[in-house]
Amino acid sequence: MVQRKRGKYSNRVPLKEQLKKRLTNVLTPEELTLIPTGYQIIGDIMLLNLKPPLLHQQLLIANTILEILPSIKTVYLNTGGITGQFREPSVKYITGEKKSTARHVENHVIYEFDIEKIMFSKGNINERGKNLPKLVQPREIIVDMFAGIGYFSLPIAVHARPSHIYAIELNPTSYMFLEKNIQLNKVEGFIIPFQGNCMDIVPNLARDGIIADRIIMGILPAPKEYLPTALQLTQSGKKTILHYEGIAIRRDVEPLFQEVRDACDKAGRSPTLRAWRIIKNYGPFKYHAVLDCEIS
Ligand SMILES: C[S@@+](CC[C@H](N)C(=O)[O-])C[C@H]1O[C@@H](n2cnc3c(N)ncnc32)[C@H](O)[C@@H]1O
Repeated sequence: MVQRKRGKYSNRVPLKEQLKKRLTNVLTPEELTLIPTGYQIIGDIMLLNLKPPLLHQQLLIANTILEILPSIKTVYLNTGGITGQFREPSVKYITGEKKSTARHVENHVIYEFDIEKIMFSKGNINERGKNLPKLVQPREIIVDMFAGIGYFSLPIAVHARPSHIYAIELNPTSYMFLEKNIQLNKVEGFIIPFQGNCMDIVPNLARDGIIADRIIMGILPAPKEYLPTALQLTQSGKKTILHYEGIAIRRDVEPLFQEVRDACDKAGRSPTLRAWRIIKNYGPFKYHAVLDCEIS
């Protein structure tokens, strides 16, 4: 992921300044003040954020970006948020090579996916590639209940030494890329993918005697209704770390932990909040948070 003033292009003039220079006599002074600062680079595709008054200039701006950054082959416009059970993005092709599949490398992990159908949050970069893999102990058995294209399973398999990761994904398109990414990263021996609803697959794993050392529930909003299913992978007297994500208002994670506590009460388990982290801002007073709950 490349951000303004950081990463691969940090030794160059910032994109915003280069755009302003090239478009000085083309855009109005008001439009120049709105030149985008927000963008995401996924492989060789750029996802551009434009303020509404600049939308009519999107083709001009996108073509100028292609001239400035030869490594970018295609420019898309971000047109909305991430929605629905499959967490699908809202993007629109603007210019460049007509393709939507990107191969993105982040923290030495290869992610291939279709940017028109699949989200890739730049705000989750540290949790995805650094924090979570560092927490994983050798030989852990992990169940990733909302695996997507392998956002968490891949970096764990690449950077940590788990025994196995059972990676469950409902969306057939994401699942196809999950399988492909497992091969691209050569982690076939570590990740066992399942296509389907984790509500159905987790009970089957539990019936097969799988007790997890770590359960990853990486989806927003907090997947509270899936907690009883997740707890089937725990056992009284054995410790399991539950990675539980949700939105914390004013950084208060207590309501999220209460959801875990309530589910544990019903399942006869005992939860302890071992750690929590803010992943990113999610709107006024809202934060995307992750809780590491120890269940025993
Ligand atoms: C998009 S990921 C969340 C993002 C990720 N945590 C990250 O680091 O960016 C969530 C995935 O859960 C999948 N999903 C939603 N409901 C599911 C279910 N019941 N069982 C399995 N997968 C599910 C969605 O299709 C989606 O691919």
